[in-house]
Amino acid sequence: MAKAATFTCTNCGAVHSKWSGRCDDCGAWNTIAEDTPLSTGPSSKSLGAAKGKAIALTDLATEDASQERAQSKIAELDRVLGGGLVPASAILVGGDPGIGKSTLLLQAAAAFAETRLKAVYISGEEATSQVRMRARRLDLQDAPVKLAAETNLRDILTTLEKEAPDVAIIDSIQTMWLDTVGSAPGSVSQVRAAAHELTSFAKRRGISVILVGHVTKEGQIAGPRVVEHMVDTVLYFEGERGHQFRILRAVKNRFGPADEIGVFEMTGQGLAEVANPSALFLSDQEAQQPGSAVFAGIEGTRPVLCEFQALVAPAPAGQARRSVVGWDSGRLSMILAVLESRCGIPFAGLDVYLNVAGGLRITEPAADLAVAAALLSAREDASLPRRTVVFGEISLSGSVRPVGQTETRLREAQKLGFESAILPERSKLGQTAGLQVQKMPDLAALAGTVFGAG
Ligand code: TYD
Ligand code: MG
Repeated sequence: MAKAATFTCTNCGAVHSKWSGRCDDCGAWNTIAEDTPLSTGPSSKSLGAAKGKAIALTDLATEDASQERAQSKIAELDRVLGGGLVPASAILVGGDPGIGKSTLLLQAAAAFAETRLKAVYISGEEATSQVRMRARRLDLQDAPVKLAAETNLRDILTTLEKEAPDVAIIDSIQTMWLDTVGSAPGSVSQVRAAAHELTSFAKRRGISVILVGHVTKEGQIAGPRVVEHMVDTVLYFEGERGHQFRILRAVKNRFGPADEIGVFEMTGQGLAEVANPSALFLSDQEAQQPGSAVFAGIEGTRPVLCEFQALVAPAPAGQARRSVVGWDSGRLSMILAVLESRCGIPFAGLDVYLNVAGGLRITEPAADLAVAAALLSAREDASLPRRTVVFGEISLSGSVRPVGQTETRLREAQKLGFESAILPERSKLGQTAGLQVQKMPDLAALAGTVFGAG
């Protein structure tokens, strides 16, 4: 009996048993497409009577040839990869069109090539002359990188097999097509099949493959989500339009910590590494403004200081606005509710704007206290003490809960010239010489002691 066909949403990758106009999971319209079985996977027909061949099993204790990571010497990239490129790994680099993926990977290819790895860059989007033009702009025209402009995956795999490079970059997975799959390039079936072929090729031949994937909002072409589970490492290249900063974030890594970030700046000559991101995300601290609070955060394994900016203004009429950039809007509502019901500080009838300076996106709950401080500071029109960092998680009861890595946060703050910290009461403190700490048991204490409100 033939297995029933499955349907996948090109927007969120959810699998459905039947076709429908709207995806139940993400709510997108016209994004569901029928899947075609993978060409080298188990066929969709039942196995029948024919026997397979026996697979040789090995012990867990068997010593493998050393899996030495290759460093690109672009420190921000190596860190996000978990300390360098693992041989025979498959990596997906996703991001919005125009964010700088091709630039990053051309620089990476050149950097790997400089360390005597054999690097091949295959572009399915640009002609080789365009890639060369970019290389000249990046001053990498002499790097020993092999180039090709091709979209036929069968030809690409044959070439890679012959050339046997150490690392192959495929820009982008959405332009690749397999002649065994009927649908158009960019469709879910093509993208999945192409990614499957490339990742299994990577394992078989010991070649590291880096796939570029465009994030698509419209769902007209399949997004990187449909290949995330096939690859070893998923990196997202993000940045706000109009900002120079770009953040390479590991969201999945079989060979290193997830959540690690690398920070770059887009310049006229390509991406430059930003070794000290904290300094970048802070505005001038000499003039401390009401509504501003500096959060001592942790991104991956690294402390990053950034500034929350809040603005509170009377709402003209009707529904008050809540606008957030760089943080979760649900979390903002929660903190406003806690301020109102636990501290008696209402925000009804007030527009609230919250922004993370520099285009950074914060997901840590430890930022709660910094957000509350920024909100209170804006509402009371009183600035926080100068050169102060804030961190701590707020619970629904209004108490301030301790967060991890207190020492790391404080050390980074001290390094950048901060003099005091507002943190949860039960924080574990070691040697924090030089930094004055103000411990908060709950949100009401912050409102009372720092702003005289509540
Ligand atoms: P690109 O790498 O082509 O983006 P993607 O592959 O993610 O679509 O980068 C495109 C943008 O980067 C483009 O708007 C121009 C800008 N850019 C620079 O600012 N400086 C540079 O040196 C380069 C090569 C590009
Ligand atoms: Mg590109």
